[in-house]
Amino acid sequence: MVTESKPYIIVLGNEKGGTGKSTAAMHLVTSLLHQGYTVGSLDVDARQGTLTRYVENRDNHIRETGLALSMPRHYPIYRSALESVTAAQEEEQQRFAQAVELLRDCEFIVIDTPGSDTYLSRLAHSYADTLITPLNDSFIDLDMLVRVNPDSLDILRPSTYSEMVWDQKKQRAIRDGGKMDWIVMRNRLSSIHSRNKEEMERVLQALSKRIGFRLVPGFGERVIFRELFLNGLTLLDMRQTNTPMTLSHLSAKQELNALIEKINLPPQIK
Ligand SMILES: Nc1ncnc2c1ncn2[C@@H]1O[C@H](COP(=O)(O)OP(=O)(O)OP(=O)(O)O)[C@@H](O)[C@H]1O
Ligand SMILES: [Mg+2]
Repeated sequence: MVTESKPYIIVLGNEKGGTGKSTAAMHLVTSLLHQGYTVGSLDVDARQGTLTRYVENRDNHIRETGLALSMPRHYPIYRSALESVTAAQEEEQQRFAQAVELLRDCEFIVIDTPGSDTYLSRLAHSYADTLITPLNDSFIDLDMLVRVNPDSLDILRPSTYSEMVWDQKKQRAIRDGGKMDWIVMRNRLSSIHSRNKEEMERVLQALSKRIGFRLVPGFGERVIFRELFLNGLTLLDMRQTNTPMTLSHLSAKQELNALIEKINLPPQIK
């Protein structure tokens, strides 16, 4: 276990909304907690507050049931209400730095970001040791990463989000010489074979080399990834709640474990 070193920061990001950032964030948090790590979590999408609600629901559920479940140390970070852009950014930077400082003794910090471009989101990206971008299997979602030729599906140029990630990689390197590992995970994958699925695979494989991310399969479309939100639980808590596991639950668990494995954590925190 690490104590003196800095927390390992995992950021969930994609400027496209509804791709599974908050869902993946909560599942990573619980997975790391189950492995015995101390985990901090930050919600820089505090206005929507999905991760914050998820953690609050977990806290309430523990109080109501007395279940022995671990909790992350969680802070929502709100956007500044100051009118001047410079002053607002300065305030947001301070809020972010304070929250990271409060979580300094955690082994991991998991950060959920909004499905839009905000200063806080960019700042969070620039702190990522690992950035995970969930992506639904749709060319609408892919459009945020890359423009492709509609007929040949050849890659034309990177799009807004990819460019933002590049900028934040540079910011990170300037600030502390650190490197960001970028993982794109496909989410809500259908179990049915389709031409769309195949074409997405082909474009993403080509793109991963071109703009420097690692592609992982991610999560299938499964009810278990969404149905435990109100109790603040994930499929990893089912043993404690004495809920029997189905085959689909087991597959979901494998998908989550595979994602954690793909993160390639540095040896000292394995
Ligand atoms: N693998 C999955 N299987 C089934 N449902 C999923 C899966 N992943 C996400 N969902 C559902 O998809 C919706 C969007 O997920 P989520 O809120 O995590 O996305 P998000 O990227 O955080 O969205 P936003 O950009 O609005 O913050 C939710 O209803 C969630 O329950
Ligand atoms: Mg979200």
